[in-house]
Amino acid sequence: MEKEKITKIYEDAEREVSEIDSSEKLQETKVKFLAKKSVLMSLLSSLGLLPPEERKSFGQSLNEVREKIARLFEVKEEEIRKVELQKKLQKEQIDITLPAKNMDVGGVNPFYVVKDEITDIFLNMGFEVADGPEVETDLFNFELLNIPKDHPARDMQDTFYISENVLLRTHTSPVQAHTMQAAEGKPIRIICPGKTYRRDDDDATHSHQFAQIEGLVIDKNINIGHLKATLELFVKKMFGEKREIRLRPSYFPFTEPSVEVDITCANCNGKGCSMCKGTGYIEILGGGMVHPNVLKMNGYDPDVYSGFAFGIGIERVAILRYGIDDIRKFYQNDVRFLHQYRKKA
Ligand code: PHE
Repeated sequence: MEKEKITKIYEDAEREVSEIDSSEKLQETKVKFLAKKSVLMSLLSSLGLLPPEERKSFGQSLNEVREKIARLFEVKEEEIRKVELQKKLQKEQIDITLPAKNMDVGGVNPFYVVKDEITDIFLNMGFEVADGPEVETDLFNFELLNIPKDHPARDMQDTFYISENVLLRTHTSPVQAHTMQAAEGKPIRIICPGKTYRRDDDDATHSHQFAQIEGLVIDKNINIGHLKATLELFVKKMFGEKREIRLRPSYFPFTEPSVEVDITCANCNGKGCSMCKGTGYIEILGGGMVHPNVLKMNGYDPDVYSGFAFGIGIERVAILRYGIDDIRKFYQNDVRFLHQYRKKA
């Protein structure tokens, strides 16, 4: 009678375990058959009520069946674990062959590409980068550069005045004066990239804000040959080995002699075309030998020291380099424009 009970419990367990298909169900069934309140366990705890001679063999049978049932659960548990893992993997599978979403990556404005390229060329020649304020005094923007108050050269640079003696710098040349004063008579070899401002009407070739790179070298025995060689090297690195330069006499109050530097037109190779207006050359920068007055005013003895300076328009170089037809495009942030110059990764 008792034996039958045990067999029945085992058969029930076997059947119910075989029907389990989830870990929740498994847990539930396990409680039903093996927990304290299960039929099996209540039988075990009532062992004491049996006559002593039956107690042992019945107890043994109960324990055996309990172990067998526990085994059933172990096997089932492993089976369920495998099935559920498989399901989880299937559900979380990612298709790595799926094309990625097209992310819109920004580009570097060609202005900055060119500014960095110019800077690198001069760094490789041993120049250092200097910096100066964009809001300047009349003293640094003009007077220390040999342009006194009533000098006609001031008309060349339409100026945004903030007050009588404070203005937005019209060129990067005031950095020359700042650098000379800070160097206290020691040799100098700097470039200074930076923003400059003039009261121009904005059109395809003019902007009230633009940028220059100033260059200044001061040492003993510096002559115009050094200026020419430096600029020639710059032009060849920037525009290609085939470009020639030409120095034309010019005038700047802070350099003497002064030159405009032209390069042979990349479009026609110097023959003359619409891009260079038939001249074969395109003007790219101004420069010259630092005027003795400028040396003197900023702490250098012009009998001992000499130097050269130049100013390069960054947009101008970028325009020539990329054939851009309107200076305003650099500042408008039109992504269609910027994407054309996106650097390839
Ligand atoms: N500062 C001049 C300009 O803006 C350029 C220049 C710089 C000329 C240095 C000579 C020497 O036009």
